[in-house]
Amino acid sequence: MSLAASDPSFDTQVFRFATRMGRLKASAIREILKVTGMPDVISFAGGLPAPELFPVAQFAQACQDVLATDGPAALQYSVTEGYEPLRRWVSEYLARVNQIRCTPDQVLIISGSQQGLDLIGKTLLDPGDFVIIENPAYLGAIQAFDAYEAQYVTVATDDEGIDTNDLLRVLRETKRRPKLLYLVPNFQNPSGLTLSLRRRRDVVAIAAEYGIPIYEDDPYGRLRYSGEQIPSLMAIAKSRNCIYMSTVSKTIAPGMRVAWLVIPEREVFERVVPAKQAADLHTSSFTQRAVYAYASNTEVFEHHIAEMLPVYARRRDLMVESLERFMPDGCSWTRPDGGLFLWARVPEEVDTEALLALASRSKVAFVPGAPFWVNRVVRNTMRLNFSNASDEMIVEGVKRLGEAVKAYLAGAR
Ligand SMILES: Cc1ncc(COP(=O)(O)O)c(C=O)c1O
Repeated sequence: MSLAASDPSFDTQVFRFATRMGRLKASAIREILKVTGMPDVISFAGGLPAPELFPVAQFAQACQDVLATDGPAALQYSVTEGYEPLRRWVSEYLARVNQIRCTPDQVLIISGSQQGLDLIGKTLLDPGDFVIIENPAYLGAIQAFDAYEAQYVTVATDDEGIDTNDLLRVLRETKRRPKLLYLVPNFQNPSGLTLSLRRRRDVVAIAAEYGIPIYEDDPYGRLRYSGEQIPSLMAIAKSRNCIYMSTVSKTIAPGMRVAWLVIPEREVFERVVPAKQAADLHTSSFTQRAVYAYASNTEVFEHHIAEMLPVYARRRDLMVESLERFMPDGCSWTRPDGGLFLWARVPEEVDTEALLALASRSKVAFVPGAPFWVNRVVRNTMRLNFSNASDEMIVEGVKRLGEAVKAYLAGAR
């Protein structure tokens, strides 16, 4: 006789989910991407780099070279920490472009920054622990930390990034010491905002005073189109109590799934390594070598970045100009100095989730802002991606978007 038949309280469901799964929803962005992938939709929704700018031919050559010169090792299992020459390259690259001083053995190669968010969550967060985040915040981070049942304390942002007075207020008022301060200081996703130098210094000082580690997520730092480069939090803090993360997703291609964590604190590094080992043993031996073969040719890599920047800068400018031209009164938006997104605010009475339904009828898409806001309901914002649309599509798409906002305001839903 089965257990189910003998015990009336027996849960007949065979797959019984962990409680934590209750908080995990498929990312709103991924769901939207499915819809906006249709060929006739002008999509400002994804966070996709421009595929026509991927260095396909040179990368093909790098892959061939790897297989020709190091084939068996490239196809073999490897160590969790990462391919040694790539770790060395990362430490030299960060010194060159970010003034970050780190040794190769402080670099952990990971399978995309998204894995880093998961690993740091896994290593540091118990259920109910507090993470301080910007508001609005990167959805992928919320999703990763949600899996570890984190709670969030949010800090207000303005044109200079997070408001450090608000950060101080939050720290004074929060009863339990937060485990982490997670920030995207350059061209933040979703807002496009950059944390100013003055604020970075304040953030580092405040974090040190309150004993909170800084987790600096910097996927967009190399994509600067205007303004001066600002030192990273890691550089300002001279690596103390910081974790830094970046990726090749926006400089080479996201399909590589190669990124890195810099963890100067040995004890922390040694805890994150087994967390990664449990997740995937190691990042692909082959792609690590291919990325190394491609990126370690500084001339080729820097030339590629230098070719990308003016294209993205033009698309940003065109999107800003088109918004000025086509959006009705009462709308505003950021003009980011880099990255892939700008953030727009429409009149209070517009709910951008309902607006998306209206806009998609005219075949234009964006990401409604509501899911990026934590502990707050804000319905009249949206994220617009400018990197993955041609000049013509940007102008036409923003025109359609402006018409959709006007139609919404005129009562159409
Ligand atoms: C702030 C931020 N962190 C992390 C990621 C994930 O990047 P990766 O492709 O390296 O996983 C993204 C991707 O858009 C991002 O915007």
